[in-house]
Formats: sequence, structure tokens, C-alpha cells
Amino acid sequence: MAKFEILARCPTTRARVSRLTLSHGETALPTFMPVATQAAIKGLTSQQVESLGISLILNNTYHLNLRPGVQILAQAGGAHKFQGWNKNLLTDSGGFQFVSLSKFAKITEEGKQTILVFWRNCNSHFGRRLILQPLHRRANDADSPEESISIQHAIGAGSFHSSTGFRDLEYPADIIMQLDDVVPSLTPDRARVEEAMERSVRWLDRCIAFHNASGKQTTQNLFAIVQGGLDHELRDRCLKQMVERSNQVAGFAVGGLSGGEEKDVFWRIVKQCAEKLPEEKPRYCMGVGFAEGNLSSLVQAVHSNTSTDLLVCVALGVDMADCVFPTRTARFGVALTRNGPLNLRLAKHATDFSPIEKDCPCPTCSQGTSRAMLHHIVTRETAAAHAVTIHNIVFQAQVMGGARDAIIAGTFPQYLKAFFAGYFADAG
Ligand code: GUN
Ligand code: ZN
Repeated sequence: MAKFEILARCPTTRARVSRLTLSHGETALPTFMPVATQAAIKGLTSQQVESLGISLILNNTYHLNLRPGVQILAQAGGAHKFQGWNKNLLTDSGGFQFVSLSKFAKITEEGKQTILVFWRNCNSHFGRRLILQPLHRRANDADSPEESISIQHAIGAGSFHSSTGFRDLEYPADIIMQLDDVVPSLTPDRARVEEAMERSVRWLDRCIAFHNASGKQTTQNLFAIVQGGLDHELRDRCLKQMVERSNQVAGFAVGGLSGGEEKDVFWRIVKQCAEKLPEEKPRYCMGVGFAEGNLSSLVQAVHSNTSTDLLVCVALGVDMADCVFPTRTARFGVALTRNGPLNLRLAKHATDFSPIEKDCPCPTCSQGTSRAMLHHIVTRETAAAHAVTIHNIVFQAQVMGGARDAIIAGTFPQYLKAFFAGYFADAG
């Protein structure tokens, strides 16, 4: 199991600094995890990401199962080897795709059988195969939660199924997520939110049973995902049931958020969950920031405060968070700075020969790429997307690193105050 050590606490908030030791080394928490859905952070090589000091990234089961598929990952020797990534890896279960790809999916549960169907012929998502469909249907173990865990085992670690000839893989995906039933956070139908929450608890039990029976729990760490929408009572019921299973999981995630709800509703749910989750396990807030497709990326750039959201989460007791926003917005020419997002497409940058940020240690800023150059190539050359992605990843890592330093130094409230004051000043 993962080793989780709390090193420092902020006396006035619930923020804490900890060290999470997984199969591929240590990761200092709180941390921001860049998203490599398809086994690559868009625009960067694994070597670049590693050279930036990132030690934990996220892959997605749904996408990797679809393409390249577990067979190819197994032949490569596991997801780490396939993507040339030597640090820690977390695989999300595919549950979120119930929401993000919902128009292609259907869930039914008949007795003990759960059947998850993704439409075979959807044209937007390589409709060649069913996803999370049992790869090796046996009489009783063919249902989706088991399948998700089994795929996550296969993505990372070996002996997936001896009859297929898969060899044992040395490199496990270090954190795997339970399959959960995710509904959009603004779902008005409480009965549906309740059903999804209860199903997520049932699926957690099945994931635990399957994971423990696999013998993989020594190298792969299963996290539970708290659901219950924006409903205080449903969240409480989910928390109670999941916390009862605390000794069976390595950590907890808070899911089902960032679907367009008001910030203060989001924060209240994060606070409620973080307060009730056990102290001695890491807490992961999933997908902080705007949900996919809510707003156009440029509008998001102006209105999104992902960095400040992440810091609020840290203050509420969150240890890990991910968001596609910093890397996605980079591809649209938006750089994150301590003075808020900077839209490099704007004409005013044409003659600005300063870097994105003066003291930024990232290769883009520290090796002399100017705002003017980025403005010049932003709509013409993919190099702009790479350069800004590098900056945004380093920026987010710096924000979290600064938070860790401040918590240790006992100055976290001052850090928050200074960060917020700068972030909402005019970026120029
Ligand atoms: N990513 C963002 N939110 C969620 C969630 O609720 N569940 C899963 N599995 N992934 C997510
Ligand atoms: Zn930079």
C-alpha cells in the first residue's frame, strides 16, 4: 500500500503538507496532477514533463482501453514503459465518461449484473469497440466495476489474464480509481443522484473485492470516490458508508463536482467531504475547474480561476487535484500568471519583449521566449502551444509548491492573501 505521511499542518485552515510514497517514488502533497488522458500531456513528451519536476500524472482507463488497448500496453510492458514515464501514475476509472460521453452511454443494473454500454457506432469516439465491456466474459465476473479495475490492473500491472498470454508487467499504475456512477453536478433529479451515489458505494465494494482477490493491492492503490451531487444529506450518507471501508482503500476522492455549479456550492461540498474523510488518507478532488464544454475556452480563460480554486481546496484539506484547464487553455494561447490569465493573442503583446512571467523558472520564460514571440506564433506554429503548456504546468506546480512551503513555514494564510490579491489584479 501507499505510504502517506503528514509532515505539517496549517493551524488556522485544514491545509496540510504530506508525502505520498508510491511504487514510482515520492510525491509531495498538496499537488496538482497534469492530465495525460491519452498517455501524453498534449504537446509534451514524457521526458519534458519529468524534466519539469512533475512526479504524478493522470491517465484515463476509458481512453487507453479504447486506444491503444490493453493488449498493446501489455506488449509494451505496461503504461509506464509505453509512455516512457518513470514517475507515478494515476488511472481514472472511466466513470467520468458516463458524464462526458453520456450521449453514447447507457447503464443498466439487473440484479447483481451491471451492464454498461457505450454505443458501438458513435462517430465521434472511434465507435469500433464497446468500452468497459468485458474482455474475457466468464459466468459471474464480467460486470463493469470488475472490468474497470481489471483494465486498470492491465494498464499498469501484469498477469491480467494468463490465458491471453499477457506477461507479468513490472510497472503498476500506482493509483487506480474505483468505477463510480457519475451524474452531472446540476442534475435536478434527486432520485437519480441518490441512485448514482448508492450504486457507487455498491461498486466500491465490488472494486475492493476484485482488487483484493487479484493480489494487486501490494503494488496498486485503490481510491474510493465520494458521490452524492450537491446534496448535503446524500454526501453524508455516501461519506459514512465509504469511511466505513477506510481500511480497504488507500485514499479517497471527491467526485461529481465542477459541472457548472456555483463556486460556493462547490466549496461547501469539498469542505463537507474533506472534514469527514479520515485524516490518515490522502484526499483527491477530481477535475477542479470548469466542466468540459461548459464555456468556450477563451471565455473560460477570462473567467476561470483554477489556480485560486485549487488553493481554496488546499485550505479545505484537499491533497491532490487535477484539471485539464492549465494545459487546455495553453493550447489556446492563454498563459497563467500570478496576476491572472494572460491572453497572448491580444495585440498588445506584439511588442512586449518580456517573458510570460519575470521570475518564472520554466524553460519558456527562463530561456528567453518573449510574449511578443509567443503572440507572433500563437496562431501559426504549434511551438507556441508547447511553450505555453510548459509554462502553465510549471506555474501550477509553483503555486502548489509555494503553498507547501507556506504551510511548513506557518504562513499559509498570508500566502493565500498575497496570491489572491495578485491574481485578481490586472495582468496587463
Ligand atoms: N473526473 C472528474 N470528476 C470525476 C468523477 O466524479 N468520477 C471520476 N471517476 N472521474 C472524475
Ligand atoms: Zn514560465
